[in-house]
Amino acid sequence: MALPSGFLSELKMRCDITDVVSSYVNLKRRGRNMVGLCPFHSEKTPSFNIYPENGSFFCFGCGVGGDVITFIMKIENLDYIEAVKLLANRAGMSMPEDSYDDGISKLKGRILEANREAARFFHSKLMSDEGKTAQEYLIGRALSKQTVVRFGLGYAPANRYALCDHLRKKGFKDEEIVAANLAFKRSSGKGIVDRFSDRVMFPIIDLRGNVIAFGGRILTDQKPKYLNTSDTLVFKKSSNLFSLNNAKNTGLRTLILCEGYMDVIALNAAGFHNAVATLGTALTAEQALLMKRYADEVIICYDADEAGQKATAKAIDILRNAGLIIRVLNIPDGKDPDEFIRKNGERGQAAFKNLLESSGDDVEYRLTKLRQRHDFNRADSKANYLKEAVNIIANLDSAIEQDIYSSKLSEEMGVRKDSIVEELNKVKSSRRRDFAKKEFRKVTSDLTGREEKLNPQRRENMRAARAEEMLIAYIFHNPDMLKKAEKLISASDFVTDFNARFYKYIVEQIGEGLSPDLNIAQDFTPEEVSRFYSIINTYNSQTATVGAMGEYIDTIKSEKNKLSKADLSNMSPEEIMKNIYSKKPKK
Ligand code: CTP
Ligand code: MN
Repeated sequence: MALPSGFLSELKMRCDITDVVSSYVNLKRRGRNMVGLCPFHSEKTPSFNIYPENGSFFCFGCGVGGDVITFIMKIENLDYIEAVKLLANRAGMSMPEDSYDDGISKLKGRILEANREAARFFHSKLMSDEGKTAQEYLIGRALSKQTVVRFGLGYAPANRYALCDHLRKKGFKDEEIVAANLAFKRSSGKGIVDRFSDRVMFPIIDLRGNVIAFGGRILTDQKPKYLNTSDTLVFKKSSNLFSLNNAKNTGLRTLILCEGYMDVIALNAAGFHNAVATLGTALTAEQALLMKRYADEVIICYDADEAGQKATAKAIDILRNAGLIIRVLNIPDGKDPDEFIRKNGERGQAAFKNLLESSGDDVEYRLTKLRQRHDFNRADSKANYLKEAVNIIANLDSAIEQDIYSSKLSEEMGVRKDSIVEELNKVKSSRRRDFAKKEFRKVTSDLTGREEKLNPQRRENMRAARAEEMLIAYIFHNPDMLKKAEKLISASDFVTDFNARFYKYIVEQIGEGLSPDLNIAQDFTPEEVSRFYSIINTYNSQTATVGAMGEYIDTIKSEKNKLSKADLSNMSPEEIMKNIYSKKPKK
């Protein structure tokens, strides 16, 4: 399936990359370009560049690059057609006819429709007589009808064919129902059975209002307590959060991060609409970056048990890496937020508000945990505690924060602040050395690693590969020079096959009168697209002359020539003969 070029050109023209990216990333001007913190990896100094002149972006930190369509695909987790649709919508353009026949896109659409229909079905079952027990269960958990409706909660009937039958009647095919993970094939191989039965259902809704998955809770003490939709074409557990669709509308820039669906729902019922939860797995860096788009601060509100506290320590690192401010809320008596609010009855809301207000930041949390591990009656224990506490303080980015905690520690332990600061400086300078070394090694090895993985011939043919890349960039930026170049070189003269593909591609595009990267996101893999924009933005030589172009071409040709000579010298006479004759042009 291909979209008409005219449509794509207009779309790209109307969707200015700076405008589009600005709604996700804070951009600052730097020379002709714009820079910001990369939304695709965690970083503290900006290496994410926007090139308004050619409508592309590239991150020197993680190597991701592309055009405006690729950007939307990545940040919104969409496929090509969906990203184009979103941008068309934004630009007020309607999609060309016939652009729907892409198989995957179509199936994704069907899965979302099946999920929506399933949510409606579950909800109406909950409200019916069949849902009596489930209703009583929810009432037992202090949920009002209003909350049930707000979250679209439902009930999956005990009959294991109820949903399948309903969806079939609505015109869904078995394969679509299975692809949505609402049912699975029976082990006998005949027909399908519902995935969820006799459970309270929690629809998971994404930021565009689509029902992308479900969690289902059993009504008894049986196991598993929760059953969730597995990853499907429209759902990835590790990159979504429960109730972010509600939380993002509060405009608060603070999120409360919980462990469970019921915690989020109880908090909402008590008026805290900015609560979210992970979906049955540990917090991921992807989820942290997603939160960063809607919040500056996250209050971790995990269960008070040991598992919850371990998870808290991990979450602190992940959230800090994403550049979020963190607070940690401690729930007394080993409870989770839902139980805490319920136990406090009428006073639930006020009591939780108290906890929120008294929650300390992540450093206080870590120091408290550390203190609990040390028994200050032992002589060496005090020194050990101080050492580890200084290590925690050294992790802080801000000098002010470091100063505040150094004072606190000095008072707490009755040690002169000078000696704490001295210790702190030692730790910091040794870390700085290690960090600089590691960072440098990492950046250079990541970069060459990425280049060599895509273009395995590059390492052995560095001179040629560089010249090829410069030629590609030159022609990209000066398409009017192609005519001249074509007289001197063609893709088959290239030394590395990978670069030859790019060259061939832009030659074809320009030959058809199109912008050289118009369809790139459709014709190359995301990694290849990133590499392409890395090349054209690394050698963005506005000043390069026609003479330079000649030099690139000469280099490529002479390297190719050397190579074929080298090939010949390794060959047996028979091979050489065969080689020469097979290459002879036929008359
Ligand atoms: N979870 C899961 N599968 C399980 C148990 C838990 O996916 N078998 C996930 C669910 O998303 C759940 C979260 O982990 O919401 C937290 O689990 P837990 O603390 O056990 O559940 P609660 O939210 O406290 O559930 P409830 O109050 O209903 O017992
Ligand atoms: Mn609970």
